[in-house]
Amino acid sequence: MSSKKYLFTDPETGKSVDLPVLSGTVGPEVVDIRALYAEKGVFTYDPGFGSTASCESKITYIDGDQGVLMYRGYPVEQLAEKSSFMEVCYLLLHGELPKKEQLEGFIKTITTHTMINETILRLFNGFHYDAHPMAMVAGVVGSMSAFYHDTTDIMNPRHRDIFAHRIIAKLPTIAAAAYKHTVGQPFTYPRNDLDYCSNMMHMFFAVPAEKYNINPVAAQALDLLFILHADHEQNCSTSTVRLAGSSQTNPYSAIAAGISALWGPAHGGANEAVLQMLEQIRTADKIPQFVARAKDKKDNFRLMGFGHRVYKNYDPRAKIIRSMTHKVLEQLGKNDPLLDVAMRLEEIALKDSYFVEKKLYPNVDFYSGIIYRALGIPTSMLTVMFAIGRTVGWCAHWREMIADPETRIGRPRQLYTGPAFRDYVAVEKR
Ligand code: ACO
Repeated sequence: MSSKKYLFTDPETGKSVDLPVLSGTVGPEVVDIRALYAEKGVFTYDPGFGSTASCESKITYIDGDQGVLMYRGYPVEQLAEKSSFMEVCYLLLHGELPKKEQLEGFIKTITTHTMINETILRLFNGFHYDAHPMAMVAGVVGSMSAFYHDTTDIMNPRHRDIFAHRIIAKLPTIAAAAYKHTVGQPFTYPRNDLDYCSNMMHMFFAVPAEKYNINPVAAQALDLLFILHADHEQNCSTSTVRLAGSSQTNPYSAIAAGISALWGPAHGGANEAVLQMLEQIRTADKIPQFVARAKDKKDNFRLMGFGHRVYKNYDPRAKIIRSMTHKVLEQLGKNDPLLDVAMRLEEIALKDSYFVEKKLYPNVDFYSGIIYRALGIPTSMLTVMFAIGRTVGWCAHWREMIADPETRIGRPRQLYTGPAFRDYVAVEKR
């Protein structure tokens, strides 16, 4: 805590309360307003939580003005270049990079927990053939609380580990089952001789009728995308997981809530919306009309994959994905005209005073869909891919919250503007 204090003075009585100032390792100072209601009877008002720190966290740091993102203090650029998704999972969950044996042990645990109960598999038959994969995945992950309720004691750290391992290991299997249901193919069981991303490619694309060769370039690209999606501090879905989890609910239910929050187009659903937008634009000559629509306040249309609550500079993840998009397409020998449209759109938007003044830059979702498309992942599965990468972040935050003695049930207050007291009126007199 810093020695600095903010003085809150009641304008009517002139009486003041000292509000302590908390300092993090890096980042802005935080005014602790907890005494405000008890001592002054007032609430603070912050829709969208633009100025509110909801918790203390040691996991991820973002400097939105500088375009900096760090997991446990390590810059995401270094992790993207030198690490692997499994190593990043360990880092996020445990706070330190693993030693060799720790990493091997972690990989073994994840690899040997990829199967799902056959009854879970049968749940997919209850979904219509054209159900959105995010709806299926959120529903099925929520149903895991029915399978693991009695063996999940959230106050037991070992049980919290087991939960994290299970959900990280099983989400690709659930995602693949959702995909197979959508395309009407038989489910493909996981293979323990494959790494996390190769196994995912196998579960998605192998069919019993012929041999499937896993492309290592594709598996490597997935691994990198998952590193970039792994965590992003108190974003909408993570805050949802924390809020739901703060009631001490079963953690699979809290993750299902996070998946549901991620689905929205203002959040992780933007990757699907970006591809749909690029498909609509199709040719570079139509870009100006879409940019004009995005600037028109009477039109609901926004440039999808542009803008961010925290980044007022280029999203560092978008920078990495943009350069990897070129490499991956080249290595896979693919040419996607949508990449040209995306690059031209970025160029035009970043020269436009509307986007410049509002500091709207491409975010993580702007280019990722083009890579997923090159890997054969259909557009409707893009947010599911995001969810697979983000699951470890949700788990790390949920574990941090449950272990934090300061945690209380999340329960915001409100500025009430509805009717004040009125007497009930009988139906015949209304
Ligand atoms: N296109 C056009 N205008 C935009 C865009 C956009 N993509 N994003 C923001 N703006 C404008 C707003 O209209 C607003 O203008 P105003 O000040 O004249 O009213 C201003 O920029 C600020 O926008 P807000 O919506 O107030 O910013 P907020 O922080 O609440 O929203 C959000 C951030 C939701 C990401 C927004 O930029 C957006 O809708 N972007 C498109 C969807 C998207 O890509 N989402 C993915 C985000 S990354 C992630 O969650 C994984």
